[in-house]
Amino acid sequence: MVPSRRLDVLLYLDDPASAGEQAADRVVVAIDVLRATSTILVALSQGAAAVVPAATLQEAHHLKATRFPDALLCGERHNRPPEGFDLGNSPAEYTRERVKDKLLLLTTTNGTRLIRALAPAREVWIGGFLNLSAVCRQILGLSGDVLLACAGSHRRYAMEDGLLAGAIVEAVAGAFDQLSDSARLVLAAWRGRGLPLPEALAQTEHGQRLRADGFERDIRLAAAVDRIGLVPRLVEGRVLISSGSPN
Ligand code: MLT
Repeated sequence: MVPSRRLDVLLYLDDPASAGEQAADRVVVAIDVLRATSTILVALSQGAAAVVPAATLQEAHHLKATRFPDALLCGERHNRPPEGFDLGNSPAEYTRERVKDKLLLLTTTNGTRLIRALAPAREVWIGGFLNLSAVCRQILGLSGDVLLACAGSHRRYAMEDGLLAGAIVEAVAGAFDQLSDSARLVLAAWRGRGLPLPEALAQTEHGQRLRADGFERDIRLAAAVDRIGLVPRLVEGRVLISSGSPN
């Protein structure tokens, strides 16, 4: 008998231990459209060697001091680069000149905490609108359950992540026997968005905060559907484009 396949959505990161339990032994797509997973996608597409997600500022500094002295310190708190960091969390900062062959230590308020929490998964893939079709192709090419894990914002649902999860559900639902209630919810959000994607992202709560802080360009970049054809994955604590990945 062919086992039934379930597509599920974690609507936002609350308790990391519980997110890890839900991720365990499943293929998981990590989603933080504004902006962590979009930044990771751009950084790797521009030739960064790998991104090491750190859950806290202290952890990022500790990793730099003890294991990765040549790594760039990257990320944000309150949307801006913390003092002493090399790069913030704007995807456009991650140019080939800045990041080629570099190891990036990235810490962000929600996104890197999510990726760290998902470590018990069978696989963790990085998703954004930037690589929407590539993620969907990979989901369609495998068997087993899939969890779309949204970072959300400060332990609350964030519409930008729900929209991407909904777009993925719409594209791959036919390959699953069961959709969870949360999968149906994000599908309804995606179908009901009523605006072109850049505007829909700009009107989200976090989109409005980013605009107020002068990061409107990041929203437009995060809305560039299918600009990147890669699906990076988490391998032993590093996010990279692994040779084993069917990109
Ligand atoms: C996060 O991880 O909370 C986000 O990426 C925040 C941001 O920089 O926009």
